Formats: sequence, C-alpha cells, structure tokens
Amino acid sequence: MRYFLTGGSGDAGTLLTQSLLARGDAVTNLDLAPPNVTGAVHIAGSLLDHDALPAALFGHDTVVHIAAWHGIHEQAGKTPRDFHDLNVTGTFNILEAAAGADIKNFVFISSTSVEDRFGVYGHTKILNEEMCRAYAQRHGMQVVILRPRAFVPPWNRAVYSDFIGWAQWFMKGAVHVTDVNAAILAACDLLAAAPLPEAAPVYVIDGAYDYSAAELANWDAAGAGSSFRARYGDFEGLMAQHGLDITRKPRVLCIPDAQRLPGYVPRYSMQNLLEDLQRYGAAGPPPPYAA
Ligand SMILES: NC(=O)c1ccc[n+]([C@@H]2O[C@H](COP(=O)([O-])OP(=O)(O)OC[C@H]3O[C@@H](n4cnc5c(N)ncnc54)[C@H](O)[C@@H]3O)[C@@H](O)[C@H]2O)c1
Repeated sequence: MRYFLTGGSGDAGTLLTQSLLARGDAVTNLDLAPPNVTGAVHIAGSLLDHDALPAALFGHDTVVHIAAWHGIHEQAGKTPRDFHDLNVTGTFNILEAAAGADIKNFVFISSTSVEDRFGVYGHTKILNEEMCRAYAQRHGMQVVILRPRAFVPPWNRAVYSDFIGWAQWFMKGAVHVTDVNAAILAACDLLAAAPLPEAAPVYVIDGAYDYSAAELANWDAAGAGSSFRARYGDFEGLMAQHGLDITRKPRVLCIPDAQRLPGYVPRYSMQNLLEDLQRYGAAGPPPPYAA
C-alpha cells in the first residue's frame, strides 16, 4: 500500500513511518521538519500550501493525517490563530486535496481533548472530526478517527528533561507512543479490509493497565498506594530511589470503549515502565529508531 503521511517527522509519525516501511509499504511524508528515519519520500513542505497538495497526493491509497498543534503547543506560545491555521485550515486542505485525488482511505488523528469542548485545541479537533464525517459522506471516502489520550514519548527531551518526569506523568494514566503507533496500524488494516463496521468510526485509544477494576476502586484500601504495592511491591525501593510516588492513582479511560478498535491491543503498562526504569535509570530508554 502507498501511504501519505502529514506530520510524519513528529513523535507518532516517525514510529508509523518506520513500521509501515518495515512491513513493505511505501510512505510519503509531508512535513516542514526533516524525517528521523530514512526510507520514505520526504516532501519538505507545508500543509498550508494547498496548491502543492493534489500533485503530491497522486497515486497514494491512504492518507494518515497527523500534523497538528496540540496540548504542548498551547503552552509553547502557539496562538489560537496558529491552531486554527494548521488544525482547521490544514485539515480542510488535506481533505479537499484527498477528495480531489480520489483517495479512498483516510485516518485522522484526533485527541481525547475533544472533551475540552471550549479549549482552543479541543475545539479544533471537534471541528476536524466533523469535517472528516462530511468528506466521508460527500465523497464516499472511508475515514477512521482515532482519539488517543496524551502520548508524548519519554525520549522527547523538549518536553521531559528525563525519564523520571515522564514516569510521573505516565503514572497518572496515559498511553505509550508505541501503542498509539499500533492503533494507527490497526486503523490502516481496518481500512484495507473494507467495508468499515460503521461510517467514519471514532476509537478512543488508551494504554495498558495491569490493575484489576477492584484494585483501582480500592486504591488505598490497605494503606496509601496498597494496590500499587500488591502488584509491584518488588519495585517500591526503586520508585523511592527516584522520588516516584506510588500513591499516584491512574485515571483509566473506559476500557471496553478504549479497546474497541479491531486489532488494537495496548501493551505498555506500569510493569514496562518499571522494567525500563530498572534497566535505564533516569536516562530512560533510547528512541526505538536511530535518530
Ligand atoms: N502528543 C500527544 O500527547 C497527543 C495526544 C493526543 C493526540 N495527539 C495528536 O496526534 C498527532 C501527532 O502528535 P505528535 O505528538 O506526533 O506531534 P508532533 O508535534 O511530534 O508532530 C507533528 C508534526 O507536524 C509537523 N508540522 C507542523 N506544521 C506543519 C505544516 N504546516 N505542514 C506539515 N507538517 C507540519 C511538525 O513539523 C511535526 O513533525 C496530532 O494530530 C496531535 O493533535 C497528540
């Protein structure tokens, strides 16, 4: 299959490029930034340059639209206009060009931030999802919408100065970027095996949790962090050594809902975090690609 990625040089796009190439698919990556992996055709350009999009899209089977300003960019000085330009106009540009190029399959990376209906980021993703549904309806395009929760990877040093900072955040409940990558691949496979189970389905993407429902409900029942201790007691000393708080309870999204995407099985849980901490310490694991 021939995939056209927007934002393929970012955190999610890099892993997706690597995975698609590894399984023999062809990848074109439209991104202002240079790629982190080799093997894809890189178009150093902007989604906002709409005149260039139709020719670039020609000959592809599937678009995976990833590029967007998101949560971390709200704090990094991006204005509401920046968000509207890239997220709303950029999404319109790629949908319109995809329809014009008769692209049949489209994966849109939304976000659980749609829950923040009146936030700058959340409202752009709500508009984007509506636009995707309209293009699916008008142009017979097959669209899958994924709503991952936060997934900034531990090796993103622009956001986390070390693995400990990332671990503090992940413990509150999150999805690992490798699981988001698995979800995008599952969405691509769902499109390839058309027809879709419903028109423009939306799938929430959460991570893996080892805790049972009872352990989550009775988190501190036998003393602060007792559910953590019951599962991962062997790692308590390691956690203390790095100043990590075992009483921090994860907020788990509705699991039946979060795992509805056919073929998606999240893998990275607290157990993996602890094993990474034991093996790599505060430096954390390296990115799973040669940067
Ligand atoms: N990171 C998260 O925690 C998170 C959570 C939920 C949803 N999402 C969504 O997932 C998607 C990917 O997130 P990510 O963390 O990989 O993002 P990222 O910031 O790592 O990558 C985004 C990429 O888009 C590129 N880009 C920016 N402007 C562009 C333009 N005008 N034209 C072409 N490319 C442009 C950037 O250069 C970058 O490589 C986004 O749509 C985001 O809203 C992210």
